[in-house]
Amino acid sequence: MTNVPAFEGRTAIVTGGSRGIGLATAAALRSTGANVLICGRSADALAEAVDRLRADSASGGLVTSAKVDVGEPNQAERLIRTAVDEMGGLDILINNAGVGRFAPLAELSDEDWRETLDTNLSGAFYCCRAAIPVMRSRGHGWIINVSSLAGQHPFAGGAAYCASKAALNALTESLMQEVRQDHIRVSCVVPGSVDTRFGGRGPGDESSWKLAATDVAQTIVDLLRHPPRSLPSRVELRPSMPRK
Ligand SMILES: NC(=O)c1ccc[n+]([C@@H]2O[C@H](COP(=O)([O-])OP(=O)(O)OC[C@H]3O[C@@H](n4cnc5c(N)ncnc54)[C@H](OP(=O)(O)O)[C@@H]3O)[C@@H](O)[C@H]2O)c1
Repeated sequence: MTNVPAFEGRTAIVTGGSRGIGLATAAALRSTGANVLICGRSADALAEAVDRLRADSASGGLVTSAKVDVGEPNQAERLIRTAVDEMGGLDILINNAGVGRFAPLAELSDEDWRETLDTNLSGAFYCCRAAIPVMRSRGHGWIINVSSLAGQHPFAGGAAYCASKAALNALTESLMQEVRQDHIRVSCVVPGSVDTRFGGRGPGDESSWKLAATDVAQTIVDLLRHPPRSLPSRVELRPSMPRK
């Protein structure tokens, strides 16, 4: 296929890259040759993730980490600066960091509401806002926001989470229209249930029917490789055989 970009030497940021979908995405990107910067709030989890990524395969791009809470604008800006100053630029931004705090609205605390909106929505906003001037100056870029089917299929007990993802879908589409003429490709990946520790799920949960984190990672890499003439701006990903 012609005009499909190579990722050797490109720089990618994966927010929430210390486990789950983010870690699988970091591994998939690294295997394409991209240099990958992951972030999260736990320094220990990040150190473990970097060791795992490096142990995965001796080949592939460089991998490094930054302890960053994307819900804090100064920290999100520092994350983008780190890619520019220490890795030579920024080509790919995967806004994946997310939390799930679930409770009936009448019992939802201010803290859980704020953490959910700050991370899932404002975090993506802060990272995109800081990344766009860098991508514009490079003449290209890819931004992929990891949303959720919960954004379009709200459920009881999910007011904060569903609202955050519905708003993230809207943010993604507005931004896509603003920057596509600058060769910055913005898309949203919208998965159903994925087998991770998201929202404090335990290891014993029945999960064989769910998507694997690597399925989402594969979709993200496919989007990056998509030929430039067309732009899949939203990709929904569902388990093939959901639990009945
Ligand atoms: N699992 C599912 O069923 C599912 C379905 C649809 C969509 N999604 C979405 O997929 C994304 C990843 O979820 P996952 O299932 O992989 O969850 P996960 O296993 O809980 O991983 C979440 C990652 O985000 C990081 N993180 C959380 N808050 C952060 C913050 N404020 N700043 C920086 N990093 C932060 C976590 O590290 P720290 O806690 O150390 O910060 C961790 O690395 C989320 O946006 C989620 O909404 C998940």
